[in-house]
Amino acid sequence: MNILGIETSCDETSAAVVTDGSVLRSNIVASSLPDHQRFGGVIPEIASRRQLEYISIVVNEALSHAGLRKEDLDAIAVTLKPGLIGSLLVGISFAKAFSKALAKPFIGVNHVHAHIYANCLRKAEASREAEPVLPAIGLAVSGGHSSLYFIRDFRSFKLIGETRDDAAGEAYDKVARILGLGYPGGPVIDKIARSVKNNTLRFKCAQLEGSYDFSFSGIKTAVLYHVREHHVQPGPETDCVVAAFQESVVASLVEKSLLACRKKKVGTLLVGGGVSANSALRSLLSSRAQQEGIRVFFPPFELCTDNAAMIAGLAFHYY
Ligand code: KG4
Ligand code: ZN
Repeated sequence: MNILGIETSCDETSAAVVTDGSVLRSNIVASSLPDHQRFGGVIPEIASRRQLEYISIVVNEALSHAGLRKEDLDAIAVTLKPGLIGSLLVGISFAKAFSKALAKPFIGVNHVHAHIYANCLRKAEASREAEPVLPAIGLAVSGGHSSLYFIRDFRSFKLIGETRDDAAGEAYDKVARILGLGYPGGPVIDKIARSVKNNTLRFKCAQLEGSYDFSFSGIKTAVLYHVREHHVQPGPETDCVVAAFQESVVASLVEKSLLACRKKKVGTLLVGGGVSANSALRSLLSSRAQQEGIRVFFPPFELCTDNAAMIAGLAFHYY
């Protein structure tokens, strides 16, 4: 079964074809990020206008890379929510029209669940041995979400914890802004933090004992006050702040995810979303999970950030 996926929830316009829910036939992504960078964040009005310009081109390219005609598709899937309303509207309208014209089913998919599902996609030649086994705990960490799910099967994601304020990626972006490091903050903070050795500076995220919830707005404020109070200068001083911030965010994500696995007696942890590209999160979570006998999965880098392959893949299970 060949499903066309369409993703237009924020500043990426993406289309992909996935066969039988897992085999990646094509995944095309156009981004309007350069148009937003000088504003320090995504401007919804600009994002939706770019979606409109890119959508037909991206869909045609996804079909031609997959070597398929539109008549060969079995269903049309699209991100239904959450996202920027203007951006979503472009993808949803396009997908509805396409499905009507082709007389093929229309499937609306949850974007956050799809981020976690990205771990189940593979290239045609890859073996199926490494596929995740359910039930699993899912950790979705992106610019808009930090959520923990109990996943019995891919049609039922049970939300067990979420951020009470800022998302993890949002905290990265805001801290980068405070320190004048540009947008988006995640990749640059990740890179700087890797270069810092023997850091004595520490920040701490709110623990929220007894729940699977996260909180990242306090640490952002702690960074702001520290920078103001100590007149932190660009260079090594900034680097130490960045490294301490990242260490604290990563520790919080690791602790809560492993706690959920332990309490729910689950041996699989699926991580997804833009922040799952983070090198410190990947390395700490992998080693801690291994000690506890938990198999942890991260998507390949190109499937961590917004893409339509994860939408087409998860849609197979809905269908
Ligand atoms: O999943 P995504 O592309 O879009 C949303 O659905 O939000 O995630 C974007 C977020 C941004 O906040 C960005 O700073 C963060 O992911 N990000 C990272 C890294 N790469 C991207 N955060 C930490 N480390 C990274 N390497
Ligand atoms: Zn996303």
